[in-house]
Amino acid sequence: MAEALLRLHDVKKYFPLRRGWLRRPGWLRAVDGVSFEVQTGEIFGLVGESGCGKTTLGKTILGLYRPTAGAITFKGRPIHALPPAQARALRREIQYVYQDPGASLDPWWTVGRSLHEPLVVHTRLSRRERQARVEEMIHAVGLESAHLRRYPHEFSGGQQRRLGLARVLVLNPSLVIFDEPTSGLDVSVQATILKLFKELRARFRLTYVFISHDLSVIRLMCQRVAVMYLGVVVELGSTAAIFDTPRHPYTRALLAAIPRPVVAPEGDEGPLLEGEPPSAQQLPGGCRFRLRCPLARQDPCARLEPPLAEVAPGHWVACHFADTVPSAAS
Ligand SMILES: Nc1ncnc2c1ncn2[C@@H]1O[C@H](COP(=O)(O)OP(=O)(O)O)[C@@H](O)[C@H]1O
Ligand SMILES: [Mg+2]
Repeated sequence: MAEALLRLHDVKKYFPLRRGWLRRPGWLRAVDGVSFEVQTGEIFGLVGESGCGKTTLGKTILGLYRPTAGAITFKGRPIHALPPAQARALRREIQYVYQDPGASLDPWWTVGRSLHEPLVVHTRLSRRERQARVEEMIHAVGLESAHLRRYPHEFSGGQQRRLGLARVLVLNPSLVIFDEPTSGLDVSVQATILKLFKELRARFRLTYVFISHDLSVIRLMCQRVAVMYLGVVVELGSTAAIFDTPRHPYTRALLAAIPRPVVAPEGDEGPLLEGEPPSAQQLPGGCRFRLRCPLARQDPCARLEPPLAEVAPGHWVACHFADTVPSAAS
């Protein structure tokens, strides 16, 4: 098999706990041992409830956070502990599209200037070459040259997503991390934007890590999916495996919570999720899902944290009872 574009090995990111200005002993374990590989050209999804560590993991891949432990390899090179200059150079190849693209565009600058800026900072292109590149990308995302003279507030939500993508594409990245890129958009606009993202991936040979709490978006976009719960991956597999034969009780509950005519496997409502996840500051011992899990027993769930185990080729589940969860196919 070809070398993965991105490889995470047991990546952890802990934040120190604070109360007021006092640092309390202890850590918030936002990302707590995540391993997976993303293949070149793939759209890899990260899904899970708010607060499960998706953004923290995305920013750790980008290099905004240094992992507390673990290793991140990009194109075969370890990147988790690079010196700042090399980390900056690398960040051109890995780009991040924020949930609110308005925030990455300066309200006082024309859009043209905001698109030129990364090229000024990161490349030695001449003004003319920069102009050509910016024009190419504004057209690629379905906007026009005239838009370059306008200001961010003159654009609709959907157009702002296009600009957010154009702004990272000018740098010719190989990996783009999208963080909740369609939240706040009307469903119709959302569909158009997702289609555009897919087209651009093919056209520019990009690889995407696609973060969303929205399972229907993930299903539409991704080839493989990692389901996160409180800082760990509880299930990982092809989109078909995750949606048609989910094995982890958490994944099944998430699917069951989607309003009907959508995706829960036929005739199986699955358990409904109750309450909120416990705080990442005080994780329960053993399996961290056990307090909300219909299958949980004292032993082994309270005692042992279940490791991710392969239940079918390419389909991984972290549950002591993964084998007893009926699969929809059987
Ligand atoms: N900079 C930070 N400092 C301290 N805690 C943080 C920081 N960023 C995120 N957290 C905490 O880490 C956990 C994961 O957050 P986040 O990665 O934003 O989750 P998600 O993107 O899945 O909603 C949450 O408990 C959140 O409060
Ligand atoms: Mg987030």
